[in-house]
Amino acid sequence: MRSTEEENSILEQFLTPRGCLSYIVGDRVSGVAAIIDPSIEIENDAYKNFLQQHELSLSYIIDTHTHADHISSSKELRAEGARIVMHTLAPSPRVDLRVNDGDTLAVGSLELKFLAAPGHAPDHVSLYVPQLETVFTGDTLLIGGTGRADFSHSDPAALHESLQKLLAFPAATRVYPGHEYKGRTRSTIGQERAKNPRLQLSREEFIRHMREHRPPLPELFEASLKANRE
Ligand SMILES: [Fe+2]
Repeated sequence: MRSTEEENSILEQFLTPRGCLSYIVGDRVSGVAAIIDPSIEIENDAYKNFLQQHELSLSYIIDTHTHADHISSSKELRAEGARIVMHTLAPSPRVDLRVNDGDTLAVGSLELKFLAAPGHAPDHVSLYVPQLETVFTGDTLLIGGTGRADFSHSDPAALHESLQKLLAFPAATRVYPGHEYKGRTRSTIGQERAKNPRLQLSREEFIRHMREHRPPLPELFEASLKANRE
């Protein structure tokens, strides 16, 4: 059965051609919304038109971490009057509101609960929305995978610990990740627990695997880090 909050809420996913996902989550009753991980590879008008169409005003722009593979459009979207939210450790001076583990933000009747989830990046947060039984995992947990942990700022052991935090949510919890390359839109904690190959490894095996797993650097690695740290 859908809860009242669920019926009154909006959750929209935006996918870039290179597989980065951003989300708008909003509350129809109070007419407010937050955007998670906006990318300059999505026309700002696409976000703005969506907000307008659903009569939502943007309160918060949240980046789950300092992205190393795409440039955030948080600066451009701030013109809408919203505040930029990131973890305390985020290097960018543009951040208006710095959050820590356990902090919450209200978006109308929806509660966004921040979970520190370091490992892929030290300033990484995931967001849990209890009313929607949903977790926005960022690049900590992906569908059938996890974020990489071979950057100089990554920490495979911390990533393992962060994943355990996410896996502790009820099995039916919906998982909306920061990347998806195979056209899937979401997963659940139960599915990931059962089928995600990396989550079947022991802690030691996981750490070894993540250390050895060194795919090529993202196309926009330097440019993204530089722009997103400004
Ligand atoms: Fe990332």
